[in-house]
Amino acid sequence: MDRLHGSARLMVVSDLDSTMVHNLLSSSQRSHYLVYEFHGKTVLSYLQVDHDDPDDISLLSFNALWESYYRHDSLLVFSTGRSPTSYKLLRNEKPLLTPDVAVMSVGTEIAYGEALVVDAGWEEYLNHKWDREIIVEETSKFPELTPQSEIDQRPHKVSFYVEEVKALAIIDVLAERLEKLGLDVKIIYSSGIALDVLPRGAGKGQALAYLMKKFALDGKLPANTLVCGDSGNDAELFSIPEVYGVMVSNAKEELLQWYAENMKSNPYILQATDRCAAGIIQAIGYFGLGTNVSPRDIKDFQKCKVEIINPGHEVVKFYLFYERWRRAEVEMAGQHMQNIKSFFYSLATFVHPSGIEQPIHQCIDAMESLHGDRQGKRFQVWVDQLSSAQIGSDTWLVKCKKWESYDACHTVCSIPIQLQSKNEPKRKMEREFQLHIVGEDKHCCLTTILMSSKAEIPNEFIWLHMHQTWLDGFGVKQPETWLL
Ligand code: GLC
Repeated sequence: MDRLHGSARLMVVSDLDSTMVHNLLSSSQRSHYLVYEFHGKTVLSYLQVDHDDPDDISLLSFNALWESYYRHDSLLVFSTGRSPTSYKLLRNEKPLLTPDVAVMSVGTEIAYGEALVVDAGWEEYLNHKWDREIIVEETSKFPELTPQSEIDQRPHKVSFYVEEVKALAIIDVLAERLEKLGLDVKIIYSSGIALDVLPRGAGKGQALAYLMKKFALDGKLPANTLVCGDSGNDAELFSIPEVYGVMVSNAKEELLQWYAENMKSNPYILQATDRCAAGIIQAIGYFGLGTNVSPRDIKDFQKCKVEIINPGHEVVKFYLFYERWRRAEVEMAGQHMQNIKSFFYSLATFVHPSGIEQPIHQCIDAMESLHGDRQGKRFQVWVDQLSSAQIGSDTWLVKCKKWESYDACHTVCSIPIQLQSKNEPKRKMEREFQLHIVGEDKHCCLTTILMSSKAEIPNEFIWLHMHQTWLDGFGVKQPETWLL
């Protein structure tokens, strides 16, 4: 949170499943997960398929918008029902950016930065009138409540599945019983299936209020805040005073109903016509919170000039071109390469993550021959945690994580797995399983670029030097397959 010196220009607080990311499978549908050994590592994975936006296009659009125009002076907060383990799984599966703050387990856990430094003060505060053992015991008296899997049970969150028709009655009776036992809880029903019992002071809204109070105490209250959600556990976010809100077009009935009963005609809340991350982008424009044209949605930068140009945007733009080139989404025209080459100083060098130094122009020549080698494949390139610092009158140092993911092949292999059912957490089945692995290769380099603004063309930048190092655990086995 100390990344910014002053108040954030914009703070986006977004739910993840079905808001920031398209996820067809709701929590209950993620009812089975696999635990398997693969290449010597234990992997835990949900059986997850997306049909709506299989290529995560709207998420990648948001990413490019955020890194180009917002990362340097704004804050990104993810607020999810997922536990830390399940949140990390999603981050492995989807091209999600690194948020400044992660609020997990329905507002019962707050963690900061990439290292997910836990806010111990928040957890301590939630102990007030909370006794997990009593809650587990009392809830076990309701046979209609099916406990969620172990990874979704947290110190301040006891979670179940229950049918919608039975939920309301149970909530009333359970709340009364727990109150009589001296506990002060909040029961939230989400996605027409999930029921969470939390301390009264917890929840996504309370966690946001706590963060805002912290910012206010530091004199760093964000100039604008936009909350984004789709389901019941997001409702609280919309009742925080002085925030803008967007319910994405795919919002669930329970949230729409809550809105109709409590917030109807609130001009600060938008019911988007776009789904998921595209709905968030739509809201940024609708409320006039800043630029809402993602570089990813600009097909030709030469024809469509953007108003805000900064060194970070140049990097995002270059890598978008690189992705389109390899997917053959731009035509193989010599003038493209000439244009790209003109962004690089003729004597600029590139230190490849393998340690080999070479002229950048040589690298661009190599790129020319790779036109279309990823055509029709799932090949995605995005940058995360982009920062740029002016280190001289016309010199800039840009840093980012450059990610590349590629579904190279489909392999089938036999592995021993444990199949664990959420509904019967104690029952584990050991079996030999034929696993179809979509061979996703996901790699990342810590990337540093030295740039200079072109004296003769104001606001244009020229690359002077570039250096990459593998992000621990995300290097490639054959370094020659990584271009830049
Ligand atoms: C997420 C969590 C689940 C919770 C649900 C609703 O899906 O994984 O435990 O019940 O959100 O808050």
